[in-house]
Amino acid sequence: MPEDKIDKVTIFGAGHVGSTAAFYLALSAAFEIVLIDIDEGRARGLAMDIGQSLPYTGSEATVTGGSDPSMVEGSDLVIVTAGYPRKPGMSRLDLSSMNKPIIESIAREVAGGAPDAVLMVVTNPVDEMTCLAYEQSGLEKNKVMGMAGVLDTSRFFHFLDEMAGLASRDVNAMVLGTHGDDMVPLPDWSQASGKSLSEVVESGNLADIIERTRKGGAEIVGHLKTGSAYFAPAVSIGITALSVLGDTGRVLPVSAYLDGQYGINGIFFGVPSRLGRGGVLEIIELPLSAAERDMLVRAAGGVESRLRELRSLSENESS
Ligand code: 2OP
Repeated sequence: MPEDKIDKVTIFGAGHVGSTAAFYLALSAAFEIVLIDIDEGRARGLAMDIGQSLPYTGSEATVTGGSDPSMVEGSDLVIVTAGYPRKPGMSRLDLSSMNKPIIESIAREVAGGAPDAVLMVVTNPVDEMTCLAYEQSGLEKNKVMGMAGVLDTSRFFHFLDEMAGLASRDVNAMVLGTHGDDMVPLPDWSQASGKSLSEVVESGNLADIIERTRKGGAEIVGHLKTGSAYFAPAVSIGITALSVLGDTGRVLPVSAYLDGQYGINGIFFGVPSRLGRGGVLEIIELPLSAAERDMLVRAAGGVESRLRELRSLSENESS
């Protein structure tokens, strides 16, 4: 690859999350950014708006928008935010069934037009959607990942600061597992100024911080009434994308394919992963406490059973 090749990033879904991620990435580096949405006018209009925001910033990024999925061709990174959001009264299975065909058709476009890309899935429920995207794309396992762990960890850092006065610079923390009720913050492994969080933060307060983190997305939905969070999700996408494209080797929690690590097999699931242009370069096995390990295995069981349910539903529909 020539040194001066500009990286192409395609984002499927020009909703608040996708378009704000495009904006963040456009401010970050001279990427060629493509925003694709079934609403062509929205994708084109927002791409223009982002482009017009850049001249004074010094950014040399370009942003184009449209509805033609073949615009993905030649991408180095593809980010999928397209899909329905979860509405009140909708189960995870309802949401999975609605988003399944969307994710699968995008994955097939990526397979055809950008077979060398890294594919990052953000659409919920993220672990299940990442599994489906992997199966349809035919990409190598390590080239596919789901993004939620950086968002959950960012919220955890935020609440540790707000509710326990622990400045993020002094904290080393990570939230693993699935996005939602089964997310697994690591109170024993995570540290503040060299001591485990469970030693530093009074247990009731730590339980409240963990609960607030788990319900972080829902709390915002409650305030907004319609729609959900997008600044923190978009920045989390941006941080993960920059680690991949910059080939940084940074370890971040992403939904990665597990092949026995943490005793989990054959699913995509939130674990600490070393990231670079090859996607997930390595999965890091942290020395977790028995309680943390149990929570992780239980959360993985949830993903496995929801995938089974989703598959049997699709089989019944197609038979
Ligand atoms: C969030 O956590 C809805 O997954 C989205 O804000």
